[in-house]
Amino acid sequence: MNTDRSGSATIETGQYDFVVVANRLPVDRVTNEDGSSGFRRAPGGLVTALHPIMSASSGAWVGWHGAVDETLEDFDNDGIHLVPVALSEADVELYYEGFSNSTLWPLYHDVIVPPEYHRTWWDAYKAINQRFADATLRVAAPGATVWVHDYQLQLVPRILRMARPDLKIGFFNHIPFPSMSLFAQLPWRTQILEGLAGADLVGFQRKDDADNFMNCLQNFTDYSIQGFEATPPFEHDTQNICTAAPHPISIDTSEVARLARDPQIIARAAQIRHELGNPKTVMLGVDRLDYTKGIRHRLKAYGELLSDQALQAGEVCLIQVASPSRENVGRYMQLRNQVELMVGQITGQHDTISHTTLRYLHHSYPLREMIALYLAADVLLVTALRDGMNLVAKEYVASHQDGRGVLVLSEFTGAADQLNDAVLVNPHDIAGMKRKIIAAVTMDEAEQSERMQRMIQHLEHNDVQHWSRHFLDDLNKLAETHRPTSPTKVSEV
Ligand code: G6P
Repeated sequence: MNTDRSGSATIETGQYDFVVVANRLPVDRVTNEDGSSGFRRAPGGLVTALHPIMSASSGAWVGWHGAVDETLEDFDNDGIHLVPVALSEADVELYYEGFSNSTLWPLYHDVIVPPEYHRTWWDAYKAINQRFADATLRVAAPGATVWVHDYQLQLVPRILRMARPDLKIGFFNHIPFPSMSLFAQLPWRTQILEGLAGADLVGFQRKDDADNFMNCLQNFTDYSIQGFEATPPFEHDTQNICTAAPHPISIDTSEVARLARDPQIIARAAQIRHELGNPKTVMLGVDRLDYTKGIRHRLKAYGELLSDQALQAGEVCLIQVASPSRENVGRYMQLRNQVELMVGQITGQHDTISHTTLRYLHHSYPLREMIALYLAADVLLVTALRDGMNLVAKEYVASHQDGRGVLVLSEFTGAADQLNDAVLVNPHDIAGMKRKIIAAVTMDEAEQSERMQRMIQHLEHNDVQHWSRHFLDDLNKLAETHRPTSPTKVSEV
């Protein structure tokens, strides 16, 4: 805070017209040839979509750089100004592993595992949200557009609004928003809702999520609700109207399609099948190793199909990529043990000396290798118990421009709202899922192609660029309608 000549306080502002705030910065640490360490742009839909907007204008990204107990100065990378937020070991334990991933994550995913409620975790969540907001306030120009992302930062919109009513504030929730009866459990439900309602626009993956948010606001705050608009009471300390809307995220469809035509990647796909012994059918699962993904349900169905001899060892192989995730959180350690026990049981029972029925890979892979795996797979199994969107399903479809391949997709993913030509399954219904897997394996080529082409068309029209453009256009319109004197237009950033 400064004091101007008249003696009244002025608020310091930054120079960036467009600021993204997310738990993680969009960069990976790399070691340079001379042994020094640096950063490289991380692959991923969000940064792909926003990069052109950020590098063409004055864009900054506020986020954690992933290292513990390390404070870094701001730096520029690949046309984006990066603002690293430091987290100590205790912050990671209480804010990231604790409140974000052991309270909110399970609560927002239908309490698949019981959420834990601890006041020390909540205190850390508040403090770290304040830290992200402070970093944002330092760099945001007057009238800037600020786009906050995901469940780790739900208090940030209100903190920004209180400090800087000039900002246009958007929030996008990448994960589901729970029904009112589940959200009711959260001891800090009102603070979280009011935190989000500081935004002009709160975007969700599905209409159901936006409905749930509005129901929660109606029941647990004093806001008055009309359709998808929430207005604070007259005496409230923030006075913005908050609008909720579905804005389903997508992928960089043309880039995935381009990679899928790359001769090296096509050759790699053939090599993968060859190295598996050229089975008649290759099935694939690709997930973070997370209990929301339904990996155990998938393995149960697959193991039973082998035992029933509906699928034959030697003719079929399931590749399961399970990338390491949140490895210090108890429920994730437990899941890894359960999955690895099941993998051992299936391979022990069904493998032969020459063929494996299940190739389990506890690694993450670069995008090129992922596309080769998609191309190698006749069937992709997405059996999540609850998933905000599931971009793996969309990448698989976009890779199969040739019309081959079948997507088996859980009804409980956001993607199922859009990819309704997939073979939809209820992962809780093991018998039903087994029947659908067999239908997928035996689907004739004409039907595969019809379904795939319709889904590809959808993704061509609804890619991640379309998603970010529409969100920012809506945010701009809403902020202008509700506060006509705003100085900056999003389209100008
Ligand atoms: C989900 C969340 C993201 C998160 C990602 C990876 O997709 O919506 O916010 O970044 O998982 O999880 P991690 O805990 O490693 O950031």
